[in-house]
Amino acid sequence: MRILVTGGAGYIGSHTVKELEKQNYEVIIFDNLSTGRKELVKGKKLIIGDLKNLDEVREVFRKYKFDAVMHFASLIQVGESYKNPLKYYRENILNSLNLLQTMVEEGVNYFIFSSSAAVYGIPKFTPISEDHPLNPVNPYGETKFFIEKMLQNFDRAYGLKYVSLRYFNAAGADPDGELGELHEPETHLIPNILLFLLGKKERFEIYGNDFPTPDGTAIRDYIHVTDLARAHVLALKKLFKTKKSEVFNLGVKKGHSVLEVVKEVEKVTGKKVEYTIKPRREGDVPILIASEERARKELNWKPQYSDLKTIIQTAWNWHRKQVI
Ligand code: UFG
Repeated sequence: MRILVTGGAGYIGSHTVKELEKQNYEVIIFDNLSTGRKELVKGKKLIIGDLKNLDEVREVFRKYKFDAVMHFASLIQVGESYKNPLKYYRENILNSLNLLQTMVEEGVNYFIFSSSAAVYGIPKFTPISEDHPLNPVNPYGETKFFIEKMLQNFDRAYGLKYVSLRYFNAAGADPDGELGELHEPETHLIPNILLFLLGKKERFEIYGNDFPTPDGTAIRDYIHVTDLARAHVLALKKLFKTKKSEVFNLGVKKGHSVLEVVKEVEKVTGKKVEYTIKPRREGDVPILIASEERARKELNWKPQYSDLKTIIQTAWNWHRKQVI
């Protein structure tokens, strides 16, 4: 089976490529390397190209006959999406449309989509199940929401079958130490703390300690990137078998506050984390926790690495290696 992986040189994409290859899928990566990194796809088949060029995408599809597409290529910064919504609508929505159009034209019918908890907006209840109302509150989340809508319509009209995976907070690094997070700029909590401890960031700031949570800092559901990657492979297998479009949350139904993460980092690294408290970041919600029963039950998915200690330990191993 030959799978096209857009954004396969990115953080979650590269970990998923590794899991796909372990399961003997042939993987072709399509990435413009705007945020993806060559060092994460060493020795793999990489096509450097841009989804915005419809003809280029068509050419790739005609050259290789794909059995399915996994679509990771996306801009992911909520803050930037407020400042530059045009860029987000173009890069996320239009590029996805080019990809989906080509799939329809070339008769490729199976699609795995990187969606986000951001489609839910401010939670009306927690843990958040897949039937929670969708009400994204920032342009980034809107792009994921619109693409999910496109998928529903493409299924109805053209029979394109998809699985949309709504990620909570992806974190950690490949337990073998081969892959990890390399965002530039880095905005995520765990790498930010670790990069600060390694002297690669001048300071570490906590965005808000006045949330309605027990310690005042925001609570998130952290999921190890390898568990996330494995869920993609399970979703693909299920999709091939059932030919039925579905949506799954990917989190582990466990919330950790920013201060809890800081304490666990101190334990794992043996270093004290100095921080300053800053105002809340625009668009940050107090609590995001997934109800993940559906993925466990329907995909037979069993997260193995998503306890906070393993997440931080694997991320620490990776980041330490980058500075040596
Ligand atoms: N945080 C800090 N300091 C930092 C970085 C983050 O205090 O230096 C806080 C944030 O304010 C938030 C929590 O740590 O409360 C987690 O922040 P992340 O940036 O790691 O993750 P988010 O929950 O903001 O973002 C996640 C994904 C994004 C996605 C977003 C959509 O990582 O890619 O959910 O909801 F866009």
